[in-house]
Amino acid sequence: MGGDQAMSATLYGLGVGPGDPELMTVKAWRLVSTAGVIAYLCANGGESTALEIARPFLPDSFKAIAIDMPMKVEREVGQAAYDSGCARIAELLEKGEDVVFLCEGDPFFYGSFMYVFERLAEKFNVAVVPGVTSLTAAAAELRQPLVGRDEVLKVLPATLPAETLQAELATAHAAAIIKVGRHFGKVKAVLAGLGLEGMAISHATRPDQTIQHVADIAADTLPYFTTIIVRRP
Ligand SMILES: C[S@@+](CC[C@H](N)C(=O)[O-])C[C@H]1O[C@@H](n2cnc3c(N)ncnc32)[C@H](O)[C@@H]1O
Repeated sequence: MGGDQAMSATLYGLGVGPGDPELMTVKAWRLVSTAGVIAYLCANGGESTALEIARPFLPDSFKAIAIDMPMKVEREVGQAAYDSGCARIAELLEKGEDVVFLCEGDPFFYGSFMYVFERLAEKFNVAVVPGVTSLTAAAAELRQPLVGRDEVLKVLPATLPAETLQAELATAHAAAIIKVGRHFGKVKAVLAGLGLEGMAISHATRPDQTIQHVADIAADTLPYFTTIIVRRP
């Protein structure tokens, strides 16, 4: 194929939303259901959350690029997985084939697509298709507005040290704590120390969604796909 076709091929960084396939945008649905090549991350050779969300709309046949991401390893191993996955994507873009890269939630809200974007955006056409974030899905499922008027919302990864979480939460009107998983015990202790209440929502908008008061949870860990919403009374 000629260079012009390669230049016209597009990589789509596509947000598929937080879990309920009906929360995919019409644009995401159109691009997924007509895709020739679909790329996605899978953890430790297992399933891909983003692919599962998009499953009802997948075309009958497509080329799959599964980027296997070992989750509990050094940063360099993850970088190598992105390098080789992006090389496979680049090969098809160079042949003039569009590639749809599926991302859970929104691609640019703590999304893995940013690592693909930084590798390929200078050389190829890249379109970013926003998705419904887990943050807004969590608020909707909790039936709890996130912020209003002149309030400030903080998004805090639970991976931060306890002192940082404490300092940030001490001045927050409202906060969403993400990447909770095995950091739950630390987050619970920080919230209790500040006299703040939080609601933990796991797998928001999926059939196995759970909602609990943080203070009522005895376990030390929660699923990775958990967000804690904190709102100062
Ligand atoms: C790496 S971030 C990806 C966020 C995603 N790009 C988005 O737009 O929502 C992963 C974190 O988002 C939160 N998350 C993602 N999906 C969720 C869901 N369905 N329910 C609750 N939290 C979720 C969890 O805190 C999880 O640890």
